[in-house]
Amino acid sequence: MEIGSEFWIDKNHIYKEKSEIPHWLNKFGNVVFTSSGRGAISLFLDQVNPKTKKALLPSYICDSVILPFEKAGYEISYYDVDDYFRPVNINTDNIELGIFIHMGYFGFPTNKELSDIISKLRANSVIIIEDVTHTLFSSYKNDICNDFVVGSIRKWFGIPSGGFLASRGTNNNKLPYPPNQFVDLRVSSLQQKFEYIKTLDKSLKQDYLKGFGKAEELLDKDFSSYRIDKMSEIIIKNLDAIKLKRTRRLNYEFLLRNLNNIREVEVIFKSIDYDVTPLFFPIYVNRDRNKLRSYLISKGIYCPVHWPIPNQLEGPMNKTTKKIYDTILSIPCDQRYGIDDMKRIIEAIKEFV
Ligand SMILES: Cc1ncc(COP(=O)(O)O)c(C=O)c1O
Repeated sequence: MEIGSEFWIDKNHIYKEKSEIPHWLNKFGNVVFTSSGRGAISLFLDQVNPKTKKALLPSYICDSVILPFEKAGYEISYYDVDDYFRPVNINTDNIELGIFIHMGYFGFPTNKELSDIISKLRANSVIIIEDVTHTLFSSYKNDICNDFVVGSIRKWFGIPSGGFLASRGTNNNKLPYPPNQFVDLRVSSLQQKFEYIKTLDKSLKQDYLKGFGKAEELLDKDFSSYRIDKMSEIIIKNLDAIKLKRTRRLNYEFLLRNLNNIREVEVIFKSIDYDVTPLFFPIYVNRDRNKLRSYLISKGIYCPVHWPIPNQLEGPMNKTTKKIYDTILSIPCDQRYGIDDMKRIIEAIKEFV
């Protein structure tokens, strides 16, 4: 069986209709579901009226976060992060800023130390938004006071669409439905992948990969805010979050014990607190990252790179951020897998080394 890549949906599974929003989401405030994370950012930008159209974003970032700001006409600048993704060199003196965005990475509290800086920015009427895409299932506490929280839910389990915007105030939840083609393509591809995983019928693979690719293309072209589809909302409300958290942590701990001493691979987060739920197990591969990635693919193990360098960032990046983009690799440790799968990954990495 292959490890990693897109999730799947079992179309025979019967879900119960539920109305409550689960705790792992409503702890952020009043939640509006959207069809994607970038749709939620677009909704946020539609709702706010900052004192100036200038936004400060981290320089280690996915371009889908930048795009809604560009489309809304913002002047964007970036702050650097260190090797552990902690923000550095944010100067709050005389800063002319409307929006500040921050995030934890891979489930870890990398933005925990920002509370003083954020207090200063808030005192200057800067709107604060946290992107919790990577830390959605972590429960660590910090003293940060956000005005808004945004996230992409679809990175964590198989759903056709899914993002959200939350705040203490009420949000506009009368969003239009997403274009049918996007949701239909995602549903059929997620179900085809389930068939493939069950039957290993290779003829299905080209089809669902094409479907996923096309759906992402549609999203890249149109990242306006749309409401979530019904199926995704039902799956979210039925999610077994306890199992998701437990499995990911166990897998992470096993990878940690076994990869920590391999010289060619630099483990980034060398311990995991009880309140962290990892998105992936990120490593730096200082030599031959792409060769290792290809080798793992040849063994049926698909490790994404978070992220390709966004075009917008080629200029303003420092050496550390460039190193992150050039050497990072994300090993899957999600709830689809168990310790035997982690053993397979470790063996394959050791073989390559
Ligand atoms: C941190 C972060 N926020 C937001 C998004 C956008 O989410 P979506 O792909 O659902 O639009 C992404 C996408 O990769 C992301 O990594």
